Amino acid sequence: MELSILLIMFLLFIFVCSAFGLVYIWSSPKEMEGIPGSLGWPIIGESLSFLSDFSSPSGIFSFMNKRQQRYGKVFKTFVLGRFTVFMTGREASKILLTGKDGMVSLNLFYTGQQVLGPTSLLQANGEAHKRLRRLIAEPLSIDGLKKYFHFINSQAIETLDQWSGRRVLVLDEASSFTLKVIGNMIMSLEPSGEEQEMFRANFKLISSSFASLPFKIPGTAFYCGIKARDRMYAMIDSIIARRRNGEVIQQDFLESLIMKHSRGTDTGDDENKLTDQQMKDNILTLLVAGHDTTTAALTWLIKFLGENPAVLEQLRDEHRRIQANRRDGTDLTWLEVNNMPYTAKVISETLRMATILPWFSRKAAQDFEIDGISYNIKKGWSVNLDVVSIHHDPGTFPDPQNFDPSRFDAPVKPFSFLGFGSGPRMCPGMNLAKLEISIFIHHLVCRYKWRPLKRDDSVQPTLVRMPKNKYPIMVEPL
Ligand code: HEM
Repeated sequence: MELSILLIMFLLFIFVCSAFGLVYIWSSPKEMEGIPGSLGWPIIGESLSFLSDFSSPSGIFSFMNKRQQRYGKVFKTFVLGRFTVFMTGREASKILLTGKDGMVSLNLFYTGQQVLGPTSLLQANGEAHKRLRRLIAEPLSIDGLKKYFHFINSQAIETLDQWSGRRVLVLDEASSFTLKVIGNMIMSLEPSGEEQEMFRANFKLISSSFASLPFKIPGTAFYCGIKARDRMYAMIDSIIARRRNGEVIQQDFLESLIMKHSRGTDTGDDENKLTDQQMKDNILTLLVAGHDTTTAALTWLIKFLGENPAVLEQLRDEHRRIQANRRDGTDLTWLEVNNMPYTAKVISETLRMATILPWFSRKAAQDFEIDGISYNIKKGWSVNLDVVSIHHDPGTFPDPQNFDPSRFDAPVKPFSFLGFGSGPRMCPGMNLAKLEISIFIHHLVCRYKWRPLKRDDSVQPTLVRMPKNKYPIMVEPL
């Protein structure tokens, strides 16, 4: 059985490679000839050097940097099966991220498109995209998040209670914490129990399927991801049914969608209502977009604090002052967590240094030209913004390799800090992410000191940048 699957996969691989080869030979866009850069080898293009740089400590920065020095701020390449134009700089960032309506659309990989479903926010454009953004805006606004504060706080304390005197893998702990938070926020999942375990197992498979090969054959990561997605949808269907029968009443994100918007039919043609399919696709979208990113940010932040004792001390001072101003026996409050100026700068500096989403990918929906970079972009091209270079531009961020939160004392130039993106696709979950991180960090720095157990700066070869060794540390009470 396993042998036949391997044989089918091998034949498919040969088939796909040959198809790519032919596509490569026939479809290499003539207009691209005017753009500097190399398309590399037939079939694989420059994918090998892209992938090897991708998982190195400096990430795709070295891939970009070598080519930017040779070709300038705009260059073409062929990576991961796509003819691609990479650009960097604030002009490119402004036009790609805030460009005229409908000029570019988000450019998901085939696996992502299949797993998330056709009505996901990430696949919507123009008016449909705006409408979905409106629907999710309220529960993710600062006020909307207030009701989850106590849950997030209690989960942070519970997670950290287990850390005392132990060796912990920060990435795994952060992942478990952020998954409990988002599961509870979206559909009131209890932080432990059978439902949470099922949710966690399915989510893991879905998450790994994004960076997999697009073979929908039993046993492959892509196939397992699709199956896990179906099980997750069945779970959401049964929760929706229980809610509609009045068996359970909750005050969560799902409930707000059910109450306000789910009376539409499955044709989805009613302007202000969501079908069940749209609800499920977008719940999954929030889970996928919100989990790995927040997990990675929290892990990098703890790593950077470990490597920068002076920053850690200043951060600890801020949190000790908050504690000192509190009456004995009381816990962190909503007001306190919204008044942590130094913590906010540490979060921004973490997102700049780590650049968790190293490039933003768009597809040109029409021909256009970028002011200041005199190249014509043609409809259908994959156009990518190299965010790592923007975040490491010494003109905006002097001594860019230095972790220095004080560079955010004054506002930075527009389009030079893109930790949460910018424009109509700017991250709608940024308030939630900042809330989770600030609460967790408050309890961490007030209770513990820690030291890394192994120094390894490699990153995982996934879309979201994370430390490869999951950042193992030894934790001691203060
Ligand atoms: C520290 C954590 C996070 C980081 C660094 C982050 C970063 C980003 C960035 C850079 C984008 C824009 C990408 C682009 O323009 O191509 C984005 C979009 C998005 N983020 Fe986040 N994010 C985080 C947390 C979250 C959370 C917690 C949620 C939801 C609960 C979320 C949901 C989304 C969604 C749905 C989009 C797509 C928006 C659209 O296409 O209109 N993110 N995020």
